[in-house]
Amino acid sequence: MIVLGVESSCDETGLALYDTQRGLLSHALHSQVAMHEEYGGVVPELASRDHIRRAIPLLEQTLAQAGVTLSEVDAIAYTEGPGLAGALLVGASIACALGLAADKPVLGVHHLEGHLLSPLLAADPPAFPFIALLVSGGHTQLMRVDGVGQYTLMGETLDDAAGEAFDKSAKLLGLGYPGGPAISRLAEFGDPSAYKLPRPMLHSKDFNFSFSGLKTAVLTVVKNHHEKVIANICEQDKADIARGFVDAIVDVLTAKCVSALKHSGLKRLVIAGGVGANAQLRASLDAAAAARKFRVFYPELEFCTDNGAMIAFAGAMRLLINPQAAQKDYAFNVRPRWPLDDIKVV
Ligand code: KG4
Ligand code: ZN
Repeated sequence: MIVLGVESSCDETGLALYDTQRGLLSHALHSQVAMHEEYGGVVPELASRDHIRRAIPLLEQTLAQAGVTLSEVDAIAYTEGPGLAGALLVGASIACALGLAADKPVLGVHHLEGHLLSPLLAADPPAFPFIALLVSGGHTQLMRVDGVGQYTLMGETLDDAAGEAFDKSAKLLGLGYPGGPAISRLAEFGDPSAYKLPRPMLHSKDFNFSFSGLKTAVLTVVKNHHEKVIANICEQDKADIARGFVDAIVDVLTAKCVSALKHSGLKRLVIAGGVGANAQLRASLDAAAAARKFRVFYPELEFCTDNGAMIAFAGAMRLLINPQAAQKDYAFNVRPRWPLDDIKVV
C-alpha cells in the first residue's frame, strides 16, 4: 500500500510517499523560516498562502523522485490538526481535491501522532512499548506508547512548550526565529558555571513541566546585566546566558524522562519533535541511557521537525489497523486544537 502524506500545519510544507512494503519512497519539504524570520515568528496568513504556492510543485517532485504516479497511490493522508487553522485547511483541501480527482480515499492524521511515530522511520526503530518525550514548538508531553493509537499521557507542560521556551529565550538574546538551533549553537561556547538558571519542577514528583519561569529567568539575567540591553551585551556573556538556559532545560527534560522510565519499568525512550534535534539534549539523554541502561531512539534529524514523511507513515499505520479509516466523501474538517487522547484505538 502506498500512502501520500501532506503536512501543512505550521511553517513547513511537506509531501512524502510511504510504501508499507518498501518503506519511505520519497519526500520533499519547503521551510518558510526565511519568510517568517523578518517578523520574528510565524505569520499565519503568510503561512497559508505559501502552502498553496508550494504544495503542488512539491507533490510533483515527490512523485517524480519515487517514480510513482498518482494513480498508483492507494490513499492520501493529510494533517488534520493540531496547528494553524488556515494552514491546515490548505493541506486538507489539496489532499481532498487530489483524492477526488484521482478517486483515492483520504484520511486526516494527528500531527503529534506523526511526530510520535517518526522514530519508527529510522533504520533501527524501537519496538513497542516505549516512553515517548514529545518536544515541539507547541507541545511538551511524556507518554507511554503501547502501539499505534495506544497512547497514555503521563505528563505535559503547564505553560510554555519546550520549543517555545527555546524560541522566546532566543528572542530575548537577540537571536533570530526559530531560536532553538541558534541558542543551541551559541550555548556551545558558553561557560556552564557562569549562570545557574532555575530547573522548574525538577523535583515535582510528577511528569509535568513548566518552562515559562525559565524564560523569565533569562529576561532577569539580561535586565540585571550591567549593560541592561541585549544589544550591548558581549558575545561571550550572551553565550554564557544561552548555556545557562540550555543546561537548565536539558536537565529537566532528562530527569523527567528518567523518572518516567523508572515509573513504567520500560527500557526504551523515544524522542520526537523539533527540540529532539537539539545536540545538548541528545548528549544528556545518551549519557543517562549509558549510566542507567536504557536505550534512546531519535528520528532521523530531518524528521525531527515537521515533514510529510511522518504524516504518510502515520496514515499508513492507521490504515493497516483499519482500512476503513480512509474515506472517499472528501468532506474534510480541520482541528486546530485536538488532544492526542482523542485518537486512541480501542
Ligand atoms: O516539531 P516542530 O518542527 O514544530 C511543531 O510541531 O511545533 O518543532 C519546532 C520547534 C521550534 O520551537 C524550534 O525552535 C525547535 O523545535 N527546534 C530546536 C532545534 N531545532 C528545532 N530547539 C532546540 N534545538 C534545536 N536544534
Ligand atoms: Zn510539529
